[in-house]
Amino acid sequence: MPTQNRSEAVSIFDRVTDRAAGNAEKYTLRQKLFGTEDVLPMWVADMDIETPQCVRDAVARRAAEPIYGYEEMPDSAFEAQMEWMQQRHGLDLQREWLFYSHSVVASISTAIMAFSEPGDEVVVQPPIYPPFMKQVQRHERRLLLNPLKQDARGSWHFDLDDLKAKISPKTKLLLLCSPHNPVGCVWEKRELESLAAVCLEHGIKVFADEIHSDLVYAPYRHIPFASLSPEVCGITVTAIGPGKTFNVAGLAISTVAVADVAMRRRFDEVYQQIHFAQGTVFGHAGFEAAYREGEAWLEALLTYLKRNSDRLAKVLDGVEGIEYHAPEGTYLAWLDCRKMGFDSDRALREFFIKEAKLGLSPGISFGREGSGFMRLNFAVPTPVMDEALKRLESALEKR
Ligand SMILES: Cc1ncc(COP(=O)(O)O)c(C=O)c1O
Repeated sequence: MPTQNRSEAVSIFDRVTDRAAGNAEKYTLRQKLFGTEDVLPMWVADMDIETPQCVRDAVARRAAEPIYGYEEMPDSAFEAQMEWMQQRHGLDLQREWLFYSHSVVASISTAIMAFSEPGDEVVVQPPIYPPFMKQVQRHERRLLLNPLKQDARGSWHFDLDDLKAKISPKTKLLLLCSPHNPVGCVWEKRELESLAAVCLEHGIKVFADEIHSDLVYAPYRHIPFASLSPEVCGITVTAIGPGKTFNVAGLAISTVAVADVAMRRRFDEVYQQIHFAQGTVFGHAGFEAAYREGEAWLEALLTYLKRNSDRLAKVLDGVEGIEYHAPEGTYLAWLDCRKMGFDSDRALREFFIKEAKLGLSPGISFGREGSGFMRLNFAVPTPVMDEALKRLESALEKR
């Protein structure tokens, strides 16, 4: 199969698709979320950049077959992901560890149900992707909040003293986000090791949501939590998939890796109770093609995304009140607007909607710790980025 070369891919990223004409939720929910359609939507974490051609071709080939009946995810698809994880991240997975999942959030729920009881405590580290908190509450577990802390240079860290002080015999599970949405942090090996040591000492299992792991900018490197040691691997459930990497969230396909036999048996019980289906014919086709043929596209994409992040940094450089530390991973900019002088999160949000005409995610939706921040998704083609920066600059100038 041909691999897309880099220069070809770069021009592809510049293409603007009219997603407003279709069913993309980034656009269809504008009225509901922002009270107007007159915003450039830069919120939900998918890209306005075309899915790679190799994936679209594979889906089209499958669509041309005349029957869309039941289909198991083929071993060859799992193997493609296993090779990818080995080569790009040094994570050795075994076929029997892997489960298909239509959604990482559903996998989080499965782990909560499998490894804790109602009333038990589940650790989350806000500010955090909101379903981490919501799913814990929906399953009637107690949220053990262990907020991240920021150092003087603006980098984010785990607060392990806080965690150790809060752990109780009821603390059963920790939901790790790595790389972290929304702060964009790519956790260092020694930080992960320190967190793992606390979890091992207290018998806490870890759900490692590593869905953003391929979107990491040099010189940073994603370290899979399960790769730290065999002991750590034995307490870890890892969620990975092509959804963010290749912009295929709509194919609803990811996997979950559970190495420990007893944990896998328990995870499987809940998985069967829920009756997870085995994926879609299009998902299987796109998933395998992405991992087998998408690497050159991804490398070019990372350069492209970094450029958008740098452009945003340039516009915000010297703007009083907004601090921007470019993310180490993800395409999400976590803007610290606490010194802009707004007296509420509502007023801050209104500024971005009404003055800048940008539809961002309010930081407060990622937990109390996100108050005063806004999250901007910069995974857009250059012409859209031009427009976004123009709107932002003009709104900031008028203030
Ligand atoms: C950290 C994280 N986990 C999970 C998801 C959603 O995954 P899924 O659509 O597979 O449920 C997102 C989407 O933004 C995310 O950022």
